Amino acid sequence: MDKSFNYIISPEITNFRKFSPKLRIGVLASGEGTNFQELINLSTNKNLDIEIKVLITNKEEAGCIKRALKANIPCKIIKGKDFLNNELFESEIIKILKSLDVELVIMAGWMKIASSFFISKYKDKIINIHPSLLPSYKGSSAIKEALSNGSKITGCSVHFVENEVDSGSLIMQAALTVLKNDNLESLTKRIQILEHKILPLSISHAGYLIREKFKDNY
Ligand code: GAR
Repeated sequence: MDKSFNYIISPEITNFRKFSPKLRIGVLASGEGTNFQELINLSTNKNLDIEIKVLITNKEEAGCIKRALKANIPCKIIKGKDFLNNELFESEIIKILKSLDVELVIMAGWMKIASSFFISKYKDKIINIHPSLLPSYKGSSAIKEALSNGSKITGCSVHFVENEVDSGSLIMQAALTVLKNDNLESLTKRIQILEHKILPLSISHAGYLIREKFKDNY
């Protein structure tokens, strides 16, 4: 790795928990799906005990779709504009997740705001990855804003999804230095390298909490 790539990862969570049966996750993504790909890889290599039950995307041209197809993961394209309102759109997603007995929902580049209705259906069981050190730079242009603001340090965060956007209890964070000649592309790339480290660890941790909390069901 490039020597100038200085980073720090929050230290409490360092190992993957074991899950038997495997943790059943559903992934929501709207974009290229590099985080999703990391989960596919970890599951295929049996490094992380997850079963990816479904990929749900709201964009029919999203790069994550071909990754799901290649890995034989069921993929559903659910577009907001096909529904009369947001609640019906979200109800369809929830129906799919529940029908597959998904335990933990992962927002991995899901560029839609979840309503309180959605969140209440998967209370404490939805996590999101965001490309900033929250609470800085919430919203959809986090990396751009860090650059234009002249931030010296930025990073990424994984948090439980709660009613306020890009808020909710933090699970893990990773920080890196912004280089003098960084642009959107170069900084995004380095942030994503860190995302691919903290998202799987956060899934393992959240899965552990969920299984502990609901252990009578196992
Ligand atoms: C990731 O960088 C993620 O942090 C960001 O979208 C990207 C998806 O990349 N999410 C948000 O901005 C949410 N507000 P990927 O599709 O390659 O995993």
